[in-house]
Amino acid sequence: MATTRSDALVFFGATGDLAYKKIFPALLAMVTRDGLDLPIVCIAHSGWDLEQLRKRAHDSIAQAAKDEHGSVDEAGFAKLSALLQYVDGDYKDSATFDQLKKALGSAKRPLHYLAIPPSLFGTVAKGLKQAGCADDARVVVEKPFGRDLASAQELNRTLHEVFPESSIFRIDHYLGKEPVQNLLYFRFANTVFEPVWNRNYVDSVQITMAEKFGIEGRGAFYDDVGAIRDVLQNHLLQVTSLLAMDAPVGNDPGSLNAEKLRLFRAMRPIDPSDVVRGQYSGYRDVDGVAKGSNVETFVALRLHIDTWRWAGVPFYIRAGKNLPLTTTEVMVDMKAPPMPVFDDIGPKESNYFRFRLSPEVVIAEGARVKQHGEKMHGEPVELVARHHPEPEKSPYERLLGDAIRGDNSLFSSDECVEAAWAVVDQVLNHEGPVSSYEPGSWGPDAAAKIVETAEGWHDPVAEATDPC
Ligand code: BG6
Repeated sequence: MATTRSDALVFFGATGDLAYKKIFPALLAMVTRDGLDLPIVCIAHSGWDLEQLRKRAHDSIAQAAKDEHGSVDEAGFAKLSALLQYVDGDYKDSATFDQLKKALGSAKRPLHYLAIPPSLFGTVAKGLKQAGCADDARVVVEKPFGRDLASAQELNRTLHEVFPESSIFRIDHYLGKEPVQNLLYFRFANTVFEPVWNRNYVDSVQITMAEKFGIEGRGAFYDDVGAIRDVLQNHLLQVTSLLAMDAPVGNDPGSLNAEKLRLFRAMRPIDPSDVVRGQYSGYRDVDGVAKGSNVETFVALRLHIDTWRWAGVPFYIRAGKNLPLTTTEVMVDMKAPPMPVFDDIGPKESNYFRFRLSPEVVIAEGARVKQHGEKMHGEPVELVARHHPEPEKSPYERLLGDAIRGDNSLFSSDECVEAAWAVVDQVLNHEGPVSSYEPGSWGPDAAAKIVETAEGWHDPVAEATDPC
């Protein structure tokens, strides 16, 4: 793997939603915090010029600052603005790539970031090759990587015609999140977990990715994708792999990838009878959504991992838009003690590990302790190992920085992406209707039947600001 630094960043899809919401704020942070100082050539087919692009970048940064109750770092923005260039053109037109070549000037090792629909990856890759912009270059491609297993395999073939695997960085921004990395670190930096992290002690695992907002502003994109393709095949299966994989034999990307791949391949393809799909009422009225759309904005399912470690342990996973709050949380429920010694052992849920992955970072262990007094009565407590209001670096800042340096540890390989598609492939083309749910609820009632325990789903609540 070449580990030289890229000497230019080419940003396809620079006028899009992702650019506005995440990428320009990340670029500003890279300039101000990490001293990013290379040409940034933005490309889109919007009929814009450089000034419009700069204004859009400023608006995006101002919105992000407002969301965090801050203000724009104007000096930092001026530095970013000076690095920006803009090429407008159709990706199918070779003249667009000739303009890009010109804009790259003396840059020899560009990093091409494709924040565009996967259906355009092949066209852009070929355009780059024909214009001589692909030699010694790296390419970062956004998720979802394809629409199903067959299209992901096809995409891999297409990209491999232009770039070697070591130069392809398949981004999943969840892997750049501090608490997601902490899952891995916490598991393998402490001996206490290994003896209990298996079917003998773990009763079940729940992962909930809840979002309080809908899909306004991205109706057309979302209606083509749905929750399974948007967040399950990538973010949530990645989180599952970090939770469930065996220890890698080394701290290098190859070893980590090998264990993740083994885990993905051990996930049993999800059976349609283990899935409930939901759609919030009002979804079909959103701009860009087809009137009779059957696309899911909520999914709940049971996943099985066929290894000695996890045989018989269900992984319950759900994700949805317009739920009561925005958070992603993992609960690892431990089995109850084999016999009751005291008469008041509470619900099984009082013995668990809880990983809050966003918006805060929390690692906590649920346990029972004796209440003060003569009787052997207990109460549940949480031992909090880690609590941060929110991570410092955004995932995109982290991952784009890694890609510029050529470090692919936090990116998915061709084999891992294909193995993850194989897990969901059977449930992508559900013809049946979706169950409706009210915005602000925990999804359709039918989702309750997915969890086979008396306690049902663990619904995350807003995190206490001071856990102590
Ligand atoms: C994106 C999905 O990949 O992840 C969005 O397309 C989702 O639908 C988002 O809202 C969630 O990521 P984060 O980092 O904002 O929690």
